[in-house]
Amino acid sequence: MPDRRRPLVAGNWKMNGRAADLLEIAAIRSAVLAGQAAAAEIVVCPPVTLLMDAGRVCAGSPVKLGAQDCDPAQDGAHTGDVSAEMLKDAGASYVIVGHSERRACHAESDALVRAKAGAALRAGLDVILCVGETQAERVAGAALERVAAQLGASLPNDAAHLVVAYEPVWAIGTGVTPTAADIAAMHGFVRGQLERHFPGGGKKVRVLYGGSVRPENAAELLAIEEVDGALVGGASLKASEFMIIAGAYSVLKAP
Ligand code: PGA
Repeated sequence: MPDRRRPLVAGNWKMNGRAADLLEIAAIRSAVLAGQAAAAEIVVCPPVTLLMDAGRVCAGSPVKLGAQDCDPAQDGAHTGDVSAEMLKDAGASYVIVGHSERRACHAESDALVRAKAGAALRAGLDVILCVGETQAERVAGAALERVAAQLGASLPNDAAHLVVAYEPVWAIGTGVTPTAADIAAMHGFVRGQLERHFPGGGKKVRVLYGGSVRPENAAELLAIEEVDGALVGGASLKASEFMIIAGAYSVLKAP
């Protein structure tokens, strides 16, 4: 991996976390300040309800915060929605867009995902854009085609401040992961797509793997070529597990 792509380990808390769980974020902050993941950039994406308090917890540390979704609009009559500008104002540096749970549960189209990514860039946030095939698409031999289509229709116009997360839908929360060869093939493919979409800029975009990353498999998954980090769901809820994952990365790919 070229030096210019600093590994990124991001925790996606999904719809989990109460005020008491800020203690986990405090523990991540302490571990990062103690140098436990020096090679990697560390991002925690708590539910939006905890974002401002998490910002206070992480102040003065390199731990960055992200949100899990944003609305394409900036302000206005969008009851229940939160804009990218609001997330930035609340202390976020990143926002996840196009997660498969939002694509599935909220019928988010590639076009909407692209609009959200554009809104995030407009607000000065970095984007973590998720793509990934379903089990049926993988079995049908259509995984690369599906991911190419998602990228083609949802990538924003600018590669700066963009991170892509490859998350096979069937690996999320299941404990099942693709083989190392399949991950390597997909990440190489995504890299090629990014270089085609963003001549000159695509090689700088970090491509994360996500889906059942755990302390036990992190070292193996993160060592795969073209894997620039991880998007971690369940195992990010406990600081001790999350920091083992981030720490595995720093051993493998010291800058
Ligand atoms: P998981 O989730 O690590 O719990 O599989 C990953 C994700 O959905 O981002």
